[in-house]
Amino acid sequence: MEIIESLKWWQKAVFYQIYPRSFADGNGDGIGDFPGIISKLDYLQSLGIDAVWLSPHYPSPNYDCGYDIADYLDVAPEYGTLDQFQQFLDGAHQRGIRVILDMVLNHTSDLHAWFKESRSNKNNPKRDWYIWKNGVNGDPPNNWNSTFGGSAWEMDQTTGQYYYHFFFKEQPDLNWRNPEVKVAMFNAVRFWLERGVDGFRLDAIGTIFEHPEYPNHPVPLTPLELRRTLEMADNPNREVEFWSLWRSMEQYQVEQPGMHELMQELRKVIDEYDDRILVGEDENISYHGKGDNELHMVFNFPLMETERLTPTWIRRNQANRLKELAQVNPEAWPCNTLGNHDASRVQTRFGDRKHDPELARLSLALMLTLRGTPFLYNGEEIGMTDFMLTDIGKFRDTLGIRYYQAQIEESGLSPGEAMPRASLVTRDKTRTPMQWTHQTNGGFCPVGIDPWLPVNPNYHQGVNVQDQDDDPASMLNFYRQMIGLRKHMPALIGGTYVTYRARSRNILAFYRQVSKQICLVAINFKPRPTIFNLPENAHQIELRFSNKSLAEKCEPGKQVRMQPFQILIFEVFS
Ligand code: GLC
Repeated sequence: MEIIESLKWWQKAVFYQIYPRSFADGNGDGIGDFPGIISKLDYLQSLGIDAVWLSPHYPSPNYDCGYDIADYLDVAPEYGTLDQFQQFLDGAHQRGIRVILDMVLNHTSDLHAWFKESRSNKNNPKRDWYIWKNGVNGDPPNNWNSTFGGSAWEMDQTTGQYYYHFFFKEQPDLNWRNPEVKVAMFNAVRFWLERGVDGFRLDAIGTIFEHPEYPNHPVPLTPLELRRTLEMADNPNREVEFWSLWRSMEQYQVEQPGMHELMQELRKVIDEYDDRILVGEDENISYHGKGDNELHMVFNFPLMETERLTPTWIRRNQANRLKELAQVNPEAWPCNTLGNHDASRVQTRFGDRKHDPELARLSLALMLTLRGTPFLYNGEEIGMTDFMLTDIGKFRDTLGIRYYQAQIEESGLSPGEAMPRASLVTRDKTRTPMQWTHQTNGGFCPVGIDPWLPVNPNYHQGVNVQDQDDDPASMLNFYRQMIGLRKHMPALIGGTYVTYRARSRNILAFYRQVSKQICLVAINFKPRPTIFNLPENAHQIELRFSNKSLAEKCEPGKQVRMQPFQILIFEVFS
């Protein structure tokens, strides 16, 4: 299959995101770590995944669960040592699994040595590594907001100036217009490339530069006021208006000129090594550059920005996305995902509370059959769901904690009213420990130890690896089966995408085609049987995969009756 052979490893790969704090606890202290991950390498191999994206593993005070890095050249002590990191990396490579790391370029922790120096006095050589400004008449330098709430500026008593932070105040933004910052961060990138990592997922890449003149944004509301105004308005377009005003608020803080040049420089660093990749946490396809001079992939986030995945939604997304990608560059490669450590779990988010596991299976089928590289989030393979915390003392995500406080202090809600809202907002709900067994703590950590976040009690009800491992009908084995199938169907990996019966509101169907193979995928999104017409213009049609039985023989031009939520994958011979 010549097209397949010319594809790069990352175009063929199924990626799996590991959130290290919650994956596996090797030393029994209630926090995931490298010995834990190493002990699960065979498990990863059994899933059939080809690559891991590891969320931050660096030393961090964890104001933003590791996305506030205090040292780019080391491993968080609670996760292990550099040697153990290396054992993990080598062990993954021995099993044919590549590893990309998370790289947070925009900001450091306020406890990073660079920032400690920078804030110590105005003449410190690292002063200009961060963004310092004078206030205006006792107020911050301008009206910019932190995307996590409040002003984007924090007054620092030591020198009486403000520093800029797009995220929490514990995450000061680096000044990327200072060439020394670039040298230091590129060195960090090289440090891990030298150790053999296969690339990076670049965190919040659009936030790196700010408008050089720091103008006020024009929106006369705070983010909280904006939320409230829209919550109260009886306006069907309020979501659209909200996001348009939100973008207007952040217009001088994101996607500023200079990004493409910076990505080109970073790409050159990566290309000093064989076969390494950059994946941007952004949906902006312009980061593909000329196809081979910026990022390898950016996420198709628009696909997941819906409450309900429907054939119409998916078709529209694919039509737009694939067209836009082709306009940027014919080589630009799609990258699909439906979940990560910031978003609700797939089963909760795209479920309907009646058929959640079935809908979750459809979501996986979609990820593995659409054109592009799929990214899956740990725990989805056993059908983990969001876990709603009810005790503020158990919250670990600062976003949730501050939201809870703001609901009480600024919106005047009672703790009882604030809690359900906060448990929806906190990203803790999607970061609870991986459920390995049906024993106490879901086998994540020993009995008697408090895990860093509570384990979702549904580990009792079969949502765990142990119970699902030997059950051929389990979600886990569905994952294994579908990932395995994809490996053996070149058209699903490299094929073009062409819709089939594009008007159906019940069935999503499309062809994937390489020169020597044509696949037809049909997915019934409805909870009722639906007729599917097989194509006439075929010589022969063979069923390669079905998650449910199919009564009829598959012949060109014939009808088949698809069961509720049935997934069919055919090979079509012309
Ligand atoms: C990214 C991460 C998120 C983090 C933020 C700031 O969006 O995915 O978890 O809070 O960047 O680093």
